[in-house]
Amino acid sequence: MDNQQPKKKVLSCIQPTGTPTLGNYFGALKNWKLMGEECDAAFAVADLHAITVRQDPKEFKKQIMQMYALLLALGLDEQNNIVFVQSHVPEHSQLAWILNCYTQFGEMSRMTQFKDKSIKHADNVNVGLFSYPVLMAADILLYKADYVPVGVDQKQHLEITRDIAERFNGIYGNVFTVPEPYIGKKGAKITSLQDPTKKMSKSDTNTKSFISILDKPETIVKKMKSAVTDSEACVRFDEENKPGVSNLMTIYSCCTGASFEEIENEFASKGYGDFKQKVGEAVVEELRPVQQEMERIMKDEKYIKERMAQNAEIASRIAHRTLEKVMKKIGYVQI
Ligand code: TRP
Repeated sequence: MDNQQPKKKVLSCIQPTGTPTLGNYFGALKNWKLMGEECDAAFAVADLHAITVRQDPKEFKKQIMQMYALLLALGLDEQNNIVFVQSHVPEHSQLAWILNCYTQFGEMSRMTQFKDKSIKHADNVNVGLFSYPVLMAADILLYKADYVPVGVDQKQHLEITRDIAERFNGIYGNVFTVPEPYIGKKGAKITSLQDPTKKMSKSDTNTKSFISILDKPETIVKKMKSAVTDSEACVRFDEENKPGVSNLMTIYSCCTGASFEEIENEFASKGYGDFKQKVGEAVVEELRPVQQEMERIMKDEKYIKERMAQNAEIASRIAHRTLEKVMKKIGYVQI
């Protein structure tokens, strides 16, 4: 007899600010694809979150289109998964307001990202920046996600989501699914090519320190060739003493599936020049299908908008059901 369990639900969102790096790709996006194959998944472009920092209108629109196209190019909407734009589903803002009233000022003041960002953007410490995690809670709770893949920087926000959900359930009965964090598999942490003790970041002022998913093949190889290593001239995994080489080995392993031992053997009698060249080529091959698909999709704005509209409708149907239930529990008059 088959006892098919219903698929677990996952949700994650990405802000449309800047092109993701190779670090974002191996740390998050590639795992999203795998999760989408096993779970019932929803992925969104978090464009409402993005305005907590001032955006240039023209550039912002371009970024939203591009990020959405990228999610399609990665095939995230295959197998009945949905890929949508947050601002196309008004229930996110509606639930966020409601949840604001079930969230304490004190608990939000403890959010480390808020503290960091208010220092970084001292001239624009807006209330949206403060209640940002509540909007994130709304994203997650609307879709009854069982799991949310998050990096360390978002873990605290997921914890507050759980607190808000439990608090609401405590008052009104079981309305929300309390989500669990999903921490990705090992080997996914990619560091800067110029300072391998730091995370690879798209906002780094030195563009040689990161590879953008859309970098041209020759740029990728060039950046790899100028990656910082060490003077031992031996391809060997040792994160503490050889962070640069270890980072390149991690990247190579992510691209080819080879183990560190296999990589050490492959390059046993070769210099760093050969090694870096090979890592560069492996990255180019890994990104080629995504880049080609992306190029194809970006040419067709009408197609992108059609997909946005179809997906928004499906997302809205799910979100609306949850919102209605919440409003009914609180005592709002249904018409
Ligand atoms: N805050 C997340 C980030 O910047 C993006 C995000 C918005 C998100 N809503 C979410 C992530 C819901 C997971 C679930 O990375």
